Amino acid sequence: MTNTSRPLPCFIFVYYFIISFNMIILAIETSCDETAIAVLKADKKKFEILSNIVASQIKIHAPWGGVVPNLAKREHERNLPIVLNKALKKAGFVNPKSQISNLKNIDLMAVTIGPGLEPSLWVGINFAKDLAEKWKKPLIGINHMEGHIFSALLKKNLKSQISNLKNLFPILALLVSGGHTELVLINNWLKYKVIGQTRDDAAGEAFDKVAKMLGLPYPGGPEIAAKAAQNLKSQISNLKINLPRPMINSKDYDFSFSGLKTAVLYLLRDLRAGKFGSRIISLDARDKGNQFHGLIPQICHEFQQAVIDVLIKKTVRAANEYKAKTVILGGGVAANKELRKQLGNKTNLLLPEIKFTTDNAAMIAVAAYFHALKSGIKKKNWKNLQANGNLKL
Ligand code: KG4
Ligand code: ZN
Repeated sequence: MTNTSRPLPCFIFVYYFIISFNMIILAIETSCDETAIAVLKADKKKFEILSNIVASQIKIHAPWGGVVPNLAKREHERNLPIVLNKALKKAGFVNPKSQISNLKNIDLMAVTIGPGLEPSLWVGINFAKDLAEKWKKPLIGINHMEGHIFSALLKKNLKSQISNLKNLFPILALLVSGGHTELVLINNWLKYKVIGQTRDDAAGEAFDKVAKMLGLPYPGGPEIAAKAAQNLKSQISNLKINLPRPMINSKDYDFSFSGLKTAVLYLLRDLRAGKFGSRIISLDARDKGNQFHGLIPQICHEFQQAVIDVLIKKTVRAANEYKAKTVILGGGVAANKELRKQLGNKTNLLLPEIKFTTDNAAMIAVAAYFHALKSGIKKKNWKNLQANGNLKL
């Protein structure tokens, strides 16, 4: 007698195989001041970014010297429909009659649920829920920091196939952004152990605050990096500036950048008070005719190097202790070329491309792919997804 029930599990297996390894994912990211949507095609061999649209709000927040949560929320609400349209168009989901088409090809939706600014996160989450309802798609919530980890896999030249990525373990991730500084041990995908974190300011936050003290625009990271690079080219001032490297020799893997920021504040006060010789009236990058402008690149260079020294010392020590085969650098501060270079000299470093270091939705889509590989993409109860500004890894 033939068993008629036999083919069914086989069919289910094949279906699961196709669904779970080949996927098109639409991801939404609104945790801070970038409104971002990406469409990613993923299979076991490669990631193909069909679209990756980021609408930056930098111009809106720059006059305030930092992100204003209510303005961010308002801008996300305004930007999301426009960004969605661009992302769908670029990914080929808008037909010549300007109608959205072929949505059936999207297998999964993902949205950042934290950490970040809750008003901003909620805008993205509610937008994603409405779309999931309308399009009848499964939707999963993703941790923003997980996205920063996975951003390192968005590379054309990633040699190993996704299925071989297990050779990278143990991985140590150094996550440095505007809100976080963390060392994360990863022994397997989606298994995280935070072994160290900042006790006060995040690395990016310190860059932003020091930039503000020097009259440099927001966000301060790229501004300080650019000034620091000028200093490397020409040693303008003879003055020796030494800033502290907080907690560099502490036994743990925690960080502290608030003292470094305060040290810059006192240095500026002392320079202005004439403690180093001539009195320096103004140390503000906006004050164009200033004869002491040469000091700004020098201060930026020393500040940047102080941050880099601490980050590298702790990362290298942790990598040795945990026998990490790979170090991943992620988060907005990972755009810093000196940090990339100097950390790369000391570790086996897997770096995201610069364009994927700051907030984007492509990285959220990659994280979603790994979640889907692990748990499948069955319709979860996405209606319960909530924003959590303090979400942990
Ligand atoms: O990851 P991200 O885009 O947003 C958050 O999740 O916070 O990181 C933004 C942070 C800002 O503090 C910004 O100043 C910093 O990344 N940043 C940099 C550089 N580019 C961006 N910091 C240092 N050097 C850079 N080149
Ligand atoms: Zn981020």
